[in-house]
Amino acid sequence: MIRKLTLAAVAALALTPGSAFANEGGGKYGHVEDYAFSFEGPFGTYDQKQLQRGLKVYTEVCSACHGLKYVPLRTLADKGGPGYTEDEVRAYAAEHFTVYDPEADDDRPAIPSDHFPAVTGDAAGPDLSLMAKARAGFHGPYGTGLNQLFRGIGGAEYIRAYLLGFTGEESEVAGQSLYENMAFPTGWVRMPPQLEDGLVEYDDGTKATAEQMATDVAAFLMWTAEPKMMQRKHAGVLAVSLLLLLSVMLYLTNKKLWYPIKHGGKQANL
Ligand code: HEC
Repeated sequence: MIRKLTLAAVAALALTPGSAFANEGGGKYGHVEDYAFSFEGPFGTYDQKQLQRGLKVYTEVCSACHGLKYVPLRTLADKGGPGYTEDEVRAYAAEHFTVYDPEADDDRPAIPSDHFPAVTGDAAGPDLSLMAKARAGFHGPYGTGLNQLFRGIGGAEYIRAYLLGFTGEESEVAGQSLYENMAFPTGWVRMPPQLEDGLVEYDDGTKATAEQMATDVAAFLMWTAEPKMMQRKHAGVLAVSLLLLLSVMLYLTNKKLWYPIKHGGKQANL
């Protein structure tokens, strides 16, 4: 039984294709390239500067059509995140967003305890708060999820590939413009291509190529979807280390208890 299972697992692994969605329909779309983000692996952490750049891309480009309604603005000052000071967050919130205040029955500048606003309207796209977890870039062979075990869910990779996946082809269906996108499973989306080199100007001097912006905003959206990823990983590493230590001690205790019986045939003196 074990042997059979092992063989099945090895066979499944051998079939793992290089890229996502590939075996879901076997079509030409759904191409997601793996990318080594800083937060991957058991010791990975978010790159603070990258999160700041990603926030800038979101604010200046994506926020026109996409909300982040589950993300409180104050978390921009949280440890492990973009790492702004509370004053910087207050200034950022007031400068970029207005929210409706039911008590005053009027709009007012956002404050840190508000969430990023939702965006509604005809051109609006889906809320991006949890998008990096909602989209899995890597599927295992035939839905086994093995790929996710080894390379993560690939949500950030998916967003990166999606933003860079536009071919420039456009078509119109029932009065609606659609754009061809190689990463999107069905190939055609309502979202127009967004990123072109030099669209934003980074404060840290990083060159704002389309690829750089796509990578940065994908990392930022991974953070919005999973702000506590680092704490979770650290707890996991600690737990596994303690279990390993326990195993070694149990092994040694076992050895010691059985030593007199294996060498000399006498009963252990307990
Ligand atoms: C002009 C409006 C507009 C802008 C600006 C825009 N988007 Fe979109 N976006 C859309 C629409 C509309 C959809 C829905 C597309 C569809 O499902 O056909 C969408 C869908 C998406 C999706 C979901 C794809 C999926 O798998 O369903 C992601 C991710 C996304 N956008 C990210 C971004 C990012 C990141 C930016 C900023 C760089 C951005 N968008 C800028 C309109 C926009």
